[in-house]
Amino acid sequence: MLSQKNTVPRPAAKALLLPLLLTCAFASAQPGPARNESAMQETRDIAAAMLKELSQTLQAAMADGGPINAIGVCKTKAPEIAMSLSMKHQVQVSRVGTRARNPDMGVPNEWQTKALEKFQSRLAGGDKPYDIEYVEVVKTGAYDLELRYAKPIVLQPMCTACHGTPEQISPEVKEKLSKLYPNDKAINYTPGDLRGAVIVTRLLSH
Ligand code: HEC
Repeated sequence: MLSQKNTVPRPAAKALLLPLLLTCAFASAQPGPARNESAMQETRDIAAAMLKELSQTLQAAMADGGPINAIGVCKTKAPEIAMSLSMKHQVQVSRVGTRARNPDMGVPNEWQTKALEKFQSRLAGGDKPYDIEYVEVVKTGAYDLELRYAKPIVLQPMCTACHGTPEQISPEVKEKLSKLYPNDKAINYTPGDLRGAVIVTRLLSH
């Protein structure tokens, strides 16, 4: 009986092995997002949800009590929304700025800086923010690949109440901002400017 096991007909073994080899070759030849299209799509959806929720929450708070009331949205709500999306989808969602207001939260790292530079030049070339994204996949361990995704955050007219020119920011908002952020760099933006990026990172199964 045992010897029968060793006499597996060769063609059958080959038939099993060939697709396996092909799959591996395909996987390593496609290190990019094509490898894992569903993770890629989910990542895009998460970034879009973050942008949408932020914008809606901010709009509601502004309508409710003006910019002084809405400071808490950009300060507290934004990380809360990012956290709840991170937990829900088992990814890391965050937000960075081209010129950060909060040096603890909003400063881009090396790859994020590269992404922001690409966004700047694409926007300068006339591309629309929703058509632009940045994706890279890097090996972070023997079996781990990290997907790094960024989507532009572009300034809208309502953002100028806190990120616009000094004339656009009311004295009471200015006072509160300068107390909270003595090294604030996130002013003097005009609508359409690149304000930052939504960042999503996640591990892909190898
Ligand atoms: C009511 C004031 C206010 C408005 C309006 C506002 N922000 Fe902010 N924004 C802030 C504050 C305060 C921070 C710092 C948050 C923190 O402490 O992390 C911030 C931070 C950010 C950051 C993170 C990077 C950084 O600079 O620290 C981004 C990106 C950002 N805002 C984008 C926007 C966009 C886009 C809009 C309009 C849709 C907007 N903000 C409207 C007050 C505001």
